[in-house]
Order: sequence, then structure tokens, then C-alpha cells
Amino acid sequence: MPDVHVPLGSRAYDVRIDRGLIARAGEEIAPLLARRRVAVVTEENVAALHLGPLRDGLEAAGIEYAQLILPPGEGTKCWSQLERVTEWLVAERVERRDVVLALGGGVIGDLVGFAAAILRRGVRLVQIPTSLLAQVDSSVGGKTGINSPLGKNLIGAFHQPSLVLADVDALETLPERDFIAGYGEVVKYGLLGDEGFFGWLEKNGPALARGDGAARAEAVRRSVQMKADIVVRDETEQGDRALLNLGHTFGHALEAATGYSDRLLHGEGVAIGCALAFDLSARLNLCSQEEPSRVRAHLDRMGMRMRLSDIPGDLPDAEGLLALMAQDKKVVDGRLRFILARGIGDAFVTSDVPPDAVRALLEDALAA
Ligand SMILES: NC(=O)c1ccc[n+]([C@@H]2O[C@H](COP(=O)([O-])OP(=O)(O)OC[C@H]3O[C@@H](n4cnc5c(N)ncnc54)[C@H](O)[C@@H]3O)[C@@H](O)[C@H]2O)c1
Repeated sequence: MPDVHVPLGSRAYDVRIDRGLIARAGEEIAPLLARRRVAVVTEENVAALHLGPLRDGLEAAGIEYAQLILPPGEGTKCWSQLERVTEWLVAERVERRDVVLALGGGVIGDLVGFAAAILRRGVRLVQIPTSLLAQVDSSVGGKTGINSPLGKNLIGAFHQPSLVLADVDALETLPERDFIAGYGEVVKYGLLGDEGFFGWLEKNGPALARGDGAARAEAVRRSVQMKADIVVRDETEQGDRALLNLGHTFGHALEAATGYSDRLLHGEGVAIGCALAFDLSARLNLCSQEEPSRVRAHLDRMGMRMRLSDIPGDLPDAEGLLALMAQDKKVVDGRLRFILARGIGDAFVTSDVPPDAVRALLEDALAA
């Protein structure tokens, strides 16, 4: 499987996508090391399944390591765990030219990436993403950070990794719900910029969900290539990178409404948000009615959540959801920015959406 290269000048790096990469990580990382020593940060669930093979591979390559195992879950992306990781790295005498390994899903990647960004004003980072969401999205592109009590991902930094090792075998141990939630981000890439990829997913999605390793690797590769292309055009999200937020304006509001709890995982919110973004696009006559129907048909076939009624428990009313959307980082001068579509594979960024159209859409979606 060829690598995806992210050509960002002095911050360029490769994303390797293959089977067995965790066990081979030692030899993959060795060329980056100024001295044969790394710091590994992971979390309990992932450590129980994947830390052993990683350690064996490091030892086989003659690389010493120190390890820190954090609690799993979104709650770990907080100030106190950031302090814990950063102080641990200081105590371990991690220097500028050393490498920190982040082994885990998006939570570990974001937290450890941020710690690496601020330790000694930036030490090198290797991302070893173990969830589908982290492999196709969060490990690539350099966004790192933690949550504030006032909102998600509000504190952070851009810090590109030096290498990403996406071992698709790791996905075999991922709980099904987390896999399907991560698939929400995969579908997003097809919807925002590549109708051919969406068609490929319509055909291969079920095999991929059943565990077809080759199909999984291909889906990860195509997703990462699309993300890399967009990040290279707009590293710090001044324009095009916002396309990657398709489904997120709705999704983030729904995550906030459900208290960032198990009621709704991030990727599930993105999938519901993508369906709503296509509904809104059709209502505004930007695309035909068939497009949102095709999106929902695929989400339905994959057993994904796609309606507000798929979220257990009560939700705020349309006005309440609109208020949550107004907290979004994508608000500029008080105007909500939406990612809408002229069709599958043809998304664009706009601040020009009448609030009444959004309110009516949400009222209908809540009543459905
Ligand atoms: N930086 C970015 O660009 C970016 C993009 C998208 C999302 N994110 C962030 O990513 C986070 C969500 O990521 P996530 O869905 O990976 O969450 P996560 O890290 O919490 O992982 C989801 C669950 O899967 C478990 N897990 C992970 N890999 C496993 C494996 N191989 N086998 C068994 N269990 C495994 C974890 O323990 C956890 O319970 C959110 O905080 C979100 O804000 C960041």
C-alpha cells in the first residue's frame, strides 16, 4: 500500500497505511531518532490490546521507551491530563529532538499532540492512530488540543506530526459502534469532494464494515489523501480546510446538546450533520432532492444514525439547537458558516444561509 505524503515544506511527513504497522513501529520510527529512546503515551483500553506489540517492536529495534497510560474517554482531553502528560514528559527528560509516540484514538492523538506542541515549544510527535476516526481524520493535519469546560477543542495548537503509522489491523479490536461512528468521517470525504469515492463506498461499505482488510486500507488511504490535499492547500483553516467540517456545525451542536456523552459519538453527530447539510442544500435549491435521499440510503444501509430521533433522550428545541450552533468555532462576526453542497462530492463554504431556513429544517427534523 503506497504511503500518503503530506508535502508541507519543512513540516512534510508520510502517513503509512498498512497491516502490522504497530508491531513494526520500532523499525519505522528508528530513522527519525536522534537517540534510541522514545516516550509512549496511550490509554487503558488501547494499552491492553496494542501496547505489548508496540513495545516488542521497539525492543526489537533497540529503542528504549518510557510509557504513560491514561484513562480512556473524551474526559481525558482536559487541563489536568494535559498537565499530567506534559509534566511527565519533562520528568522523563524528553528533549526537542526526541520523539513522543501517541498510541490511541483521537482523544490521545489530540491531547498528546498538544502536549508535544507546547513542551519545550515543540517536540516531535509520531501518531499511531488506532480508531478509524483517528486514522482517517484526527491523526493527519496537525490540529491538536483539549476541551474547555465551555466548549470542545477550544484550547489547542497546530502541530504537525513527523510520521503517522495507521495500522489497519488495529481496527479489528475496535468496538463496532466506534467503527461505524468513524465511518461517518469516511463518508464525509466522499460527500464533500469525491463522488467517485462515495460510489466506491456505496459498493464496498458493507464489506469494509464486515472486516475486509484491503477495503479498509483503501478507504483509509483515499480519506487521508483527500485530507492531505486540503490541508496542504490551507494548513491553518483560513479557507478551504473548513470543507472538512461538512456536517460539523449541526454535529457539534448535537454533541453539546447531549453533553458530549455516550448518547452521541462524534462521528455519529457528523453523519447526522451531513444528512442535515444535504437536506438544507436541497431546501435552498442548491442540489436536487435525490441527493439527500442517496446520502440517507447509504447511511441507512450501513446501520448508521442519521435522524435526530436516532439520538436517545430529549433534545433542545430548534431555538435551543440554533443557540448551540452559534457557539461554534466557525462563527465569524456572529454569522454562522455552513458547509453546503451542490451535489454529492461538491461541497462549498458559505455564510449566506437564512436563519429561518435552518430553523424550519430543525423544526421538521425534530418532528420527524
Ligand atoms: N485533530 C483533529 O483534526 C480531529 C478530527 C476529528 C476528531 N477529533 C477528535 O477525536 C476525538 C474522537 O476520536 P475517537 O473516536 O478516536 O475517540 P477515542 O480516542 O475516545 O476512541 C474511541 C473509543 O475506542 C477505543 N479504542 C480506540 N482504538 C481502539 C482499538 N484499536 N481497539 C479497541 N478500542 C479502541 C477508545 O478506548 C475509546 O473507548 C474527539 O475528541 C474529537 O474532537 C480530532
